[in-house]
This record gives sequence, C-alpha cells and structure tokens, in this order.
Amino acid sequence: MADLSVRLFDLELKNPVMPAAGPPVKDGRAAHAAKEGGAGAIVTKTISVRAARVPKPNMTRVKGGFINTELWSELPPERWLAEEYPKAVKTGLPVIVGLGYTSKEIRELAGRVEPFAAALELSTHYLGNDPTPVVESIRAAKDVVDIPVMVKLSPQVDIPRFASAAEEAGADGIVLINSLGPVLDIDLETGRPLLGSEQGYGWLSGDAIFPLALKSVFEAVQSVDIPVIGVGGISSGADALKMIMAGAVAVQVCTAAIINGPSVYGKIVREMEQFMDEHGYRSLSEIRGMAQKRRRDTASYARIIPELVEDKCTGCGLCITSCVYDAIHFSRDRKTVIIDEVRCAGCGLCVSRCNFAALYL
Ligand SMILES: Cc1cc2nc3c(=O)[nH]c(=O)nc-3n(C[C@H](O)[C@H](O)[C@H](O)COP(=O)(O)O)c2cc1C
Repeated sequence: MADLSVRLFDLELKNPVMPAAGPPVKDGRAAHAAKEGGAGAIVTKTISVRAARVPKPNMTRVKGGFINTELWSELPPERWLAEEYPKAVKTGLPVIVGLGYTSKEIRELAGRVEPFAAALELSTHYLGNDPTPVVESIRAAKDVVDIPVMVKLSPQVDIPRFASAAEEAGADGIVLINSLGPVLDIDLETGRPLLGSEQGYGWLSGDAIFPLALKSVFEAVQSVDIPVIGVGGISSGADALKMIMAGAVAVQVCTAAIINGPSVYGKIVREMEQFMDEHGYRSLSEIRGMAQKRRRDTASYARIIPELVEDKCTGCGLCITSCVYDAIHFSRDRKTVIIDEVRCAGCGLCVSRCNFAALYL
C-alpha cells in the first residue's frame, strides 16, 4: 500500500490530512474525535487573549458551500491552557496550536501555549494590501517561541507578495486559504439576512472555494521555499491529491468535517491510498509539485477531441445535455454516446460531466 506519511518540519505525520481551525477542533474532546476519525495531526481552534463572543446564528449551508460568522474560540485561553491543550496533547498526535489575531495578542499568548504545541499557526485573517501586520505577527511569535511558526493567509491578498514577506520574516510554513468574504445569505421565509452578524454577512468555505484554494497553494509554492499547507473545500482524496500535486506538503479540512463528521479525515486518507495504489505511486513525494513541473507557460489552442471508453459509458446522457456544441448524441446501435468530431469544439466539459470515467482527453 502507498505510504502517505509526510515530514513537516521535524514532525513525522502518519498521513497529511489534519483538521483546519474551526468547530471540529473546538476543544480537547474534539481533538480526540479527529484522531479517531483518522487525522494525521491536530490543529486547534484559533484562540485569542479573551473568549470570542460569536453572533448567532453563525453557520449555514449554502449552494456549493457554507457560510459562518464564527470568530476565534469561545473558550478563554485559561481554559485551553488548563484543560483543552493537555487533552489534545494526549491524542499522541502533533498538536499545531492556532493563535490570533494581532501581533500584540500573539506575543502575549505564544509563550504560554508553547509547552503544548509542536508548531504554531497564526491566523491573522488580514485582508489589506500591506503585509506589515502579518510580518509583525510572525516576528512577535518568533521572538518568544522556539517551535515552528506557520502563518495562515486569506486568498484575498497578493499571495506571492504576502507569502514571500512571511518567509522573509521567519515563518516556517504557510497555510492557505482562510474563508472568503464577506458574503451573504437570506432566509427565504423571513426575508431577513440569515446569519446573526452585523449586516448578516459571513465567510464562505467548502466546495465553492476549492479551485481558489488550489490556485492559491499553486501560487504560494512558486513564491517560497518553506512548506505550504493547503486548505479550502477539501472533502475527498482527489481534492487532497490535487493539493499535493500543486505542491502542498499537507492538507487541512474544516467544512467537510462539520458536514460529515470527523470520519471524513480517514475517508480522505483511504481515497488517497486507493488512487495511489491504482496508479502505482508509492509515496506522496512522487506526486508532490507534479502540477508545477507540468504547468503550461503559454496558452494551448489545440482542439483535443475527447476519447470514449465504450465499456464504461452507461448512456446516462449527462454529457449530451451539457454539450453546448450539440456534438454528442446517443447511438441506439452501440448503446453508448458518440462524438461528432466536426461539431466538437474541444471545450473538454463533457469529461468533467461524466461520472463513469468514460470520457478522457
Ligand atoms: C465555522 C468555521 C469556523 C472557523 N474558524 C476558524 C478559526 O478559528 N481560525 C481560522 O484560522 N480559520 C477558521 N476557519 C476557516 C477554516 O479553518 C478554513 O480555513 C476555511 O473554512 C476553508 O477550509 P474548508 O473549506 O475546509 O472549511 C473557520 C471556518 C469555519 C467554517
């Protein structure tokens, strides 16, 4: 079976799938559930110098994703230090402690959490153009701890610039992306903004942000030499593998663990193993950064007609419905679809519409 272990700094992780800061790691008990669910490390919910007061309702499922108005932990740091971190450490997994948000707050907390932490993850949730607050947070943490310090970035910044500034400031790793926003949902019955925050705005996560997260990781990996951890919309082995192909060392999962429970970490790991075994990959180092090596530097204009694997085609017709060029039809004789090579524009959409891998480019 493929070996999914990864080395992050001096930490040996049995697999690269860990929770992202959020409700699935809201306390020590949840950390144990994440371990049971198959996570390779624990990341704890971001804490700050005082407990957060979170406007309610604070979470909702939306089309293609999820919106939340959550802040940092609703537990005070004293509770984490006395009960939750010691419990999390008892999982036996490396514990990456989430800290926020200003450099002053981070300086105040970093040394106190260090005894429990294998590494720190600084969540700045900063959306401006000037990386100074991010740089100052990293410096504040590096001044007071000897463990690796990672910084988590929003996708709404200039990623190469921020990632490079973080590396120069001494960050040992970059985590991206944080949720995206602000965004809005409306309760159809009451006609009111659904979430309890001021204006009802929240932050988008889940499936919808995966392509943005993947591109952000791809971009960051090109900009820095320190490890990059991918997060955002990961719910399957395929998603996690794409992140590794973009160059991520490991991945984090939040929304999918909220929706499906902590067993999702193990499910992702098993799906990764299965793909790797089927494709003859023995370790993640064989695929890490593959998309960087194979990236195109110029646009490609060649028209590639999809190939059909007739045995796999069920005739379900999904590809026919969404072929805007009217180039796919059902053949009653062959009981499969057929592609009209003259009409086919080579757009490639049908390949992603097929649920049976009957079409490929
Ligand atoms: C309900 C909720 C709470 C979150 N809380 C935090 C947090 O405390 N600190 C943080 O850095 N990110 C937090 N996040 C962001 C996630 O860690 C993650 O970066 C983002 O949701 C994208 O990943 P996902 O699509 O797997 O959820 C939170 C996300 C959600 C949905």
